Amino acid sequence: MANFAVTVDDAGIAVVVFDVPGRSMNTLTADVVRELGELVARLASDDAINGAVFTSGKSSGFCAGADLGELGGGFDGDAGGEAEKRALFDASYTLNKLFRSLEMCGKPVAAALNGLALGGGLELALACHYRVVADGAKIQLGLPEAKVGLLPGAGGTQRLPRLVGAMKALPLLLEGKSLSPQEALALGVVHEVVPVERVVAVAKEWIAAKGDAVAPWDKKDFKIPGGGPYTPATTQVFVMGNAMVRKQSFGNYPAQLNIMKCVYEGLQVPIDAALRIESRYFARTAGTPQARGMIRTLFLSMDQLGKGASRPQGFAKSDAKQVAVLGAGMMGAGIAYVQAMSGIETVLIDTTQEGADKGKEYSRKLTDKAVKRGKMTQEKAEALLALIHPTTDYGLIAGSDLVVEAVFEDRGLKADVTRRAEAELAENSVFGSNTSTLPITGLAEVSVRPDKFIGIHFFSPVDRMGLVEIIVGAQTSQETVARAIDYVLKIRKTPIVVNDSRGFYTSRCFGTFVQEGLEMLVEGIAPAIIDNVGRATGMPRGPLEMNDDVALDLSYKVREQARKDLGDAYHGGPVDALIAKMVTELGRLGRKNGRGFYDYAPDGTKKLWPGLADLAPVTVTEADAALIEEIRTRLLYRQAVEAARCMAENVTTNPREADVGAILGWGFAPWTGGPISLIDGVGVGKFVTICDRLAERYGARFAPPQLLRDMAARGESFYGVAKAVAA
Ligand code: NAI
Repeated sequence: MANFAVTVDDAGIAVVVFDVPGRSMNTLTADVVRELGELVARLASDDAINGAVFTSGKSSGFCAGADLGELGGGFDGDAGGEAEKRALFDASYTLNKLFRSLEMCGKPVAAALNGLALGGGLELALACHYRVVADGAKIQLGLPEAKVGLLPGAGGTQRLPRLVGAMKALPLLLEGKSLSPQEALALGVVHEVVPVERVVAVAKEWIAAKGDAVAPWDKKDFKIPGGGPYTPATTQVFVMGNAMVRKQSFGNYPAQLNIMKCVYEGLQVPIDAALRIESRYFARTAGTPQARGMIRTLFLSMDQLGKGASRPQGFAKSDAKQVAVLGAGMMGAGIAYVQAMSGIETVLIDTTQEGADKGKEYSRKLTDKAVKRGKMTQEKAEALLALIHPTTDYGLIAGSDLVVEAVFEDRGLKADVTRRAEAELAENSVFGSNTSTLPITGLAEVSVRPDKFIGIHFFSPVDRMGLVEIIVGAQTSQETVARAIDYVLKIRKTPIVVNDSRGFYTSRCFGTFVQEGLEMLVEGIAPAIIDNVGRATGMPRGPLEMNDDVALDLSYKVREQARKDLGDAYHGGPVDALIAKMVTELGRLGRKNGRGFYDYAPDGTKKLWPGLADLAPVTVTEADAALIEEIRTRLLYRQAVEAARCMAENVTTNPREADVGAILGWGFAPWTGGPISLIDGVGVGKFVTICDRLAERYGARFAPPQLLRDMAARGESFYGVAKAVAA
């Protein structure tokens, strides 16, 4: 066998070492599953074997679960039929039968988990009769399927609740949170926690001491811990659980709903029938556009981009050792911190020493907190802070591999600091601007080396936001793009690469969500309806709340700038008048001064500002199902059609980056897998028809770009085309 090595000792105990060749981590590939079948048959029939211990040959862990690459590989947006559901059922049920035959092989089987066991990896362990896990701070045990829109389909939804009860199992299944070895022991998910070098020996000792080869649920007197679904306590768990799932997911996530149903139904029947129920729900869940989109974007694409998939080929890998940050304000301070976290010598420049020191203070606050919480040692914190050099001296830029400019959003000022920094920079170092709105090609006009000038757009707060949008100006070289990506990967962020455009990609599309909410407001829809439905679409907040958070004066400035830049081509309308009045006459700037669309109390709570009704009289105070659906469609489709325009205009060059950028950058409803996955999931033709209707009713902002019409005529999907191009 290629993936398993079996040795049988004198006592007849087989040690099975799981080790998929050529991979850093074990996953349950089709090949592994086939060999596992042979292995289980041998365990059951070979009289020389008295029991077995499963362990892994990888130091990285035991097994990370199903191969999502295999599962997600076939997804190109046009599946969903009966044949596919059948195949998904078979994939799950094959594993369920296999793990069940291991559990029923008649001989004691132990899992010696020398590292992480996630998803199918933990499900395999749960089908063993005994579980020993290594003691290690980084070891995780869990069923994270729900995080990518799936449900555990190899017994996890049935064995875990039978082991620990529905009340304790449901949160783990619904949230996909993993457990440390100690937590798993306390819950009863594993039997022993021992030093890593002892896991196999301890598992063998259990077998030698006549380990029980019958699973608890196969014993006559078995009772589900806490009781079955019809006992009063567990009934409550499901009643409350359903309400909570509804509250958190707004019905957008089929995985969570199906996990509830699957556990509820499965616990009422014997385990064999329960596993069949699970496989049916698995197929029903994995075949949804939501699961397809989430697996692809949140798992596969994130992974690929995190490994540099968008990096231009043919340039030696660069390693930024010293980076200068211009401007020690909110963004510059955050950038300095993430750089120092990755060991980069950081020159942090501001106009006054006090300002620069204040920027470094931000890192001190974060490290102090981390030390207090036991997440960082004092030495590491000191070493990190020693890497940040606050100064006003541009001369210290010399020797930097890269500069990140984060001064005020002002063209003249940015031009000035560009000239001053370039005077100190070595020939081949890169200049990156963290501008959020000013086109890169324009900023590069003052540069003496525009081929090395690029946009490196961070998100706030920098230490928590995972995305960096790299903006390629008209003269930016491919080598500069490669070096900017190397830098972003070094600070452990996910890069997407976009071409220059007003608002680039993320701000441009995010702006449409807020704008659509404001359009509804001036149409007379009650603000509470707009924000409630906005949240129910799966966006982190409603459009009006979001606008308050971003700051209304910033909105006002961006609108004024666009009016200046675009001249007659700019259409302001009543929304602009509303924002102008809020900011310039009423001083309502948003959350930052406690007054925006909402009034903010000192304790952090907020209430809609009653005066808003005078500026935008309300005519729609109640929303029926049809209106809710219409608002939902407008909010999501307005963003998606903008994302499609970015694809049509070559601002984004592939669906993967557009989808990852949307979810990480502005919190686009994750259940969709991103705006491009949303379009593919609906079907391009149907999406165009809906947008045409919306454009007729609400305006040209919904008009689909020609690209979508052409794709619809050819029956294409974005991911289908991307796949064909790659092949
Ligand atoms: P900020 O106002 O907090 O910081 C700007 C800093 O630049 C101030 O500390 C200021 O003293 C300093 N500065 C001004 N002139 C300077 C000079 N000649 N040399 C060195 N430093 C100088 O502004 P913030 O929010 O950090 O924004 C900075 C840049 O980042 C802007 O271009 C902004 O558009 C962009 N950005 C902001 C985001 C945000 O959420 N605030 C998100 C992404 C980008």
